[in-house]
Amino acid sequence: MIGKWILSPSLLSADFTCLGEQIAALENAGVDWLHVDVMDGHFAPNISMGPQIVEACHRISSMPVDVHLMIENSENYIGAFANAGANLITIHIEASKYPSRTLQSIRDVGCRPGIALNPSTNVDKIMKLFPLVDMVLVLGTNPGFSGQTFIPQVLAKIAAIREENPDGLIEVDGGMNTQTLPAAFQAGANVFVVGNAIFKHPKGILHGVRELRTLC
Ligand code: DX5
Ligand code: ZN
Repeated sequence: MIGKWILSPSLLSADFTCLGEQIAALENAGVDWLHVDVMDGHFAPNISMGPQIVEACHRISSMPVDVHLMIENSENYIGAFANAGANLITIHIEASKYPSRTLQSIRDVGCRPGIALNPSTNVDKIMKLFPLVDMVLVLGTNPGFSGQTFIPQVLAKIAAIREENPDGLIEVDGGMNTQTLPAAFQAGANVFVVGNAIFKHPKGILHGVRELRTLC
C-alpha cells in the first residue's frame, strides 16, 4: 500500500445540535473525508440523512464528502447527491438491480463510484465490478447503526479484495476502534470509517482522531 491511510468519520454518530462545530473540530483534527450514511428504512433498518446534510457538509467544509447509500433504488438519487456536492457515492451490491449501470451514472455526474458489501455477502459477487469503481466498501457490522461490534470474519474478505485489487481504495466501515483498525489495515484496508470511537471519545473529537492516527 502506498501513501497514508484515509480517515472518514461517520456523521451518524455526530451530535446534530451542533453539527457545524463538530465538522470544524474534525477538520482541525486533520481528518480526510466526511462519511454520510444514508438509510431508507427498507434496505437498512434505520432512517438517517439525505442530500440536505451532504449540501451542508459541502458548504461548511472543503473536505470530500463520502456518501454511503444504504437504500433501495439508489439509481433514482444519484443526481440529487451529486448536486448536493458528494465526491464519492457508494451503492450496495445487495440493493442494486443494475449495478454497472448505476456505477457508470455516478461517474457520468462527476463523482467517484464505490461498491459496498454487507458482512454476509461474498466477495465474488463484486469482483467483476472492480474495473468500474474507485473504491470497495466492506461493512464490518450489519447496516443500520453505529456502535456495533466489528465482525472479525470480515478481515479475510478485505484480504481477498486486496489480492484482486492491489492499488484501489478499500474502505472498512463499522466497528472500527483502536483495537480493530490496525487489524483491518494489516488485512489491506486503506480508508477507515469511524463513528463512535471519534464522536463518543470521552476526551472529545480531537483525542479520538489522534489516538487512531498514532496506530499505523
Ligand atoms: C453502519 C454505518 C457506519 C457506522 C459506523 O450502518 O454505515 O458508518 O455509522 O459507526 P461505528 O464506527 O460506531 O461502528
Ligand atoms: Zn457507512
